[in-house]
Amino acid sequence: MSQLLRVQCFNVSRDGFGAGEGQSLDRPFGHADPSPLFSWAGATASWVNRTDPGGTRGLDDYLTRDHARNRGAEIMGRNKFGPQRGPWENHEWQGWWGDTPPFHTPVFVLTHHERPSFTLADTTFHFLNATPAEALARAKQAAAGRDVRLGGGVATTREFIEADLVDTMHIAVAPVDLGRGERLWESHTDLLDRFHLESVPSPSGVTHLLFWRR
Ligand SMILES: NC(=O)c1ccc[n+]([C@@H]2O[C@H](COP(=O)([O-])OP(=O)(O)OC[C@H]3O[C@@H](n4cnc5c(N)ncnc54)[C@H](OP(=O)(O)O)[C@@H]3O)[C@@H](O)[C@H]2O)c1
Repeated sequence: MSQLLRVQCFNVSRDGFGAGEGQSLDRPFGHADPSPLFSWAGATASWVNRTDPGGTRGLDDYLTRDHARNRGAEIMGRNKFGPQRGPWENHEWQGWWGDTPPFHTPVFVLTHHERPSFTLADTTFHFLNATPAEALARAKQAAAGRDVRLGGGVATTREFIEADLVDTMHIAVAPVDLGRGERLWESHTDLLDRFHLESVPSPSGVTHLLFWRR
């Protein structure tokens, strides 16, 4: 496989949820407190949003360090990009990430409500109403030989898994239950007919699930 579609550093609760219910501008993850899901990554030295020196250098850091390796484009769902639903009222919203988004590649936002592309620093956002296979073809072309990251959110990740387009996945399972919200899976064992799996507990308390295609 030369150009992979990778899910990386995607976080789920023990009961399989990747986001809570009721996303809003103030609560990007809905009712859920994101901290138990994401704190393992934020604590690492290589975390993309780290602003101060320091951080852990163990297993978790190996996984966050791998996040940007050989990545040439990103695909995400419209709800990861923002909390708006339905037709855009205007195009003022440019994502959660400020003037320097952490992607540094073209980003393809899947949506039924397309809008013009725009660029912030070295990230250009494109809006695509397309099937997963079509979106992946566009992203692979833009990635120019490098891999494509599937950045979430939950529904979009599910859609690409169902379409059997994902090559590798790193999912971190946090020791917390959310009870409701956006669910990635009932049980990850449903994927084992299509993927190999290594399950690696980390001292931080999460369990890293590493999948790759059979
Ligand atoms: N746990 C994690 O690691 C993680 C990672 C990333 C994000 N998140 C969280 O996940 C939540 C977002 O996930 P989500 O499941 O609500 O939504 P999502 O996957 O981000 O976006 C779903 C939306 O994308 C559009 N879409 C998806 N596929 C499409 C296609 N083939 N063609 C056209 N449009 C398509 C549709 O929007 P429209 O019809 O409205 O255009 C759809 O409702 C947020 O709370 C975010 O913070 C969690």
